[in-house]
Amino acid sequence: MTILVAYATAKGSTRGIAERLGSCIEGLGQSVDVRPVADVSDVHSYDVIVFGSAIHNGQWLAEASDAVGRLRSQFEGRRVWAFSVSSVGVTSTTLSKRLARFLRRVTPEPGAVRILRDAADVRDHRFFAGVIAPGDWPGFGRVVFTLMGGHYGDARDWADVCAWAGAIAAESTRDTERRT
Ligand SMILES: Cc1cc2nc3c(=O)[nH]c(=O)nc-3n(C[C@H](O)[C@H](O)[C@H](O)COP(=O)(O)O)c2cc1C
Repeated sequence: MTILVAYATAKGSTRGIAERLGSCIEGLGQSVDVRPVADVSDVHSYDVIVFGSAIHNGQWLAEASDAVGRLRSQFEGRRVWAFSVSSVGVTSTTLSKRLARFLRRVTPEPGAVRILRDAADVRDHRFFAGVIAPGDWPGFGRVVFTLMGGHYGDARDWADVCAWAGAIAAESTRDTERRT
């Protein structure tokens, strides 16, 4: 069985997470393809699909949302693991810890993930924190970022990324064994 990890990125941090998910899953003995969502036109050969996007303005990037619409009919019955890369992940953040705790409670899932839940067998959706560089929030955005206790840098929690990959690999192995 080959697992597809498809991602959409604007500045590269989501690609880094997708590649790390791929290498961690591969390290657990599964075969993996890691590809940008824009390059994915057919998912029939994959039993398990890991699908992720950077978050802009609370939503997945357009190319990721478009891909969900485009591939929707192919997703039926397939196991999908979704992830979103934003300022606030489950275990780390580029904002203040206090604000992050609040945002984790109130931030809704991106619309594209809700559509995926209707179309596929979605096993989990996880938020990871990404990277914020000076210039990502220009002008007034920089002021707001500072008021939110924001700090520039790479907040990706690689241990959490690899642990999630481990859950994907373990559940995929169990499902395959059950079916054979
Ligand atoms: C234009 C823009 C809009 C963003 N909007 C949000 C947002 O609504 N919520 C959030 O938590 N992070 C937001 N971010 C932060 C990004 O999600 C974060 O930097 C992420 O690591 C970007 O992933 P990428 O490097 O793959 O593009 C935004 C960043 C930019 C540049």
